[in-house]
Amino acid sequence: MQEYFGRNQDPRLKMIDARKAVTDTGKKRISAVSQIMTKNQIRDYIIAQVETMPPLPSLVTQIMQMISDEKSCAGSFESLFRKDPILTARLLRLVNSSFFGFRNKVSSIPQAIVMVGYESLKNLVLAASISRFVKGSYPGYGYKDSGLWQHSFLTATWAERLAVALGWSKNESQCVFVSGLLHDIGKLIMSSYLTEHIREMLISLIEAEGDLVYAEKHVVGIDHAEIGACIAEKWNFSPRLIDVIKHHHITIKDRRSDGETALLKIVDHVINRSGIGMYNNFPITHNLDTVCLANLGINANVLLDLQQEIIKSSESLVSQI
Ligand SMILES: [Fe+2]
Ligand SMILES: [Fe+2]
Repeated sequence: MQEYFGRNQDPRLKMIDARKAVTDTGKKRISAVSQIMTKNQIRDYIIAQVETMPPLPSLVTQIMQMISDEKSCAGSFESLFRKDPILTARLLRLVNSSFFGFRNKVSSIPQAIVMVGYESLKNLVLAASISRFVKGSYPGYGYKDSGLWQHSFLTATWAERLAVALGWSKNESQCVFVSGLLHDIGKLIMSSYLTEHIREMLISLIEAEGDLVYAEKHVVGIDHAEIGACIAEKWNFSPRLIDVIKHHHITIKDRRSDGETALLKIVDHVINRSGIGMYNNFPITHNLDTVCLANLGINANVLLDLQQEIIKSSESLVSQI
């Protein structure tokens, strides 16, 4: 397993070396600007970065509408793919990955609909189309290459599976898949700054005993959930999805009726605790919001089994999806 710090080395002394993890020179623009800014200005600058993000491709928007539309049909789905051979190739690569374990190669969209089922395939199309935004390395959050993508995809997949196991409707379960896939989109923007200021971020994390949101706010003045909600608004996501993204790190205490956020938080917690896609000694901790479990009527003992299953499934998740 890859280490964030070398063995037997005091992280505080070695923090400076972690800066070598920065590989994307294009991100230095944020660093150069931030050196002459106050914290409030940094926060505003990061928020302004949302405006520079490209719009969500209309194809992705159409797919999201199809997911929430229970009356959509396989025919309209197929016609979308005729316009986009790259997405078709990406989807087939995902379906053919060892994660799904099909013995025979799936080589066309109609065949994929038969093999995976139309409802599940809609989710995978969204995953395939979002992957190009999420792939890459995010060392500011302790993710290895493709680590954030693995985290997002597994959170989506297992959140949906848990929703089905809890007896949620097909539509509700699919909505949880979407929010699982997109809940951490704020990290896409925040990571550039945090990676450039990794020393400050690591000190804050250690001082905050691994509390990610606290450390983000200390360094940047805002956290990835808030920035994620800004991106979600820019991309015209539904108010429900914006709400889930914004609150996925807020204690659920006062939001008893919000089952979707509670379920997402549980799966997010288990996957974070598993360390999937992360350097194994990045100084972050993951506390379980036990009110979520109570809200959903889930016994805490179930989580260990869930974690084992998730780890097993992650082994077959190829990073090149
Ligand atoms: Fe998060
Ligand atoms: Fe997450």
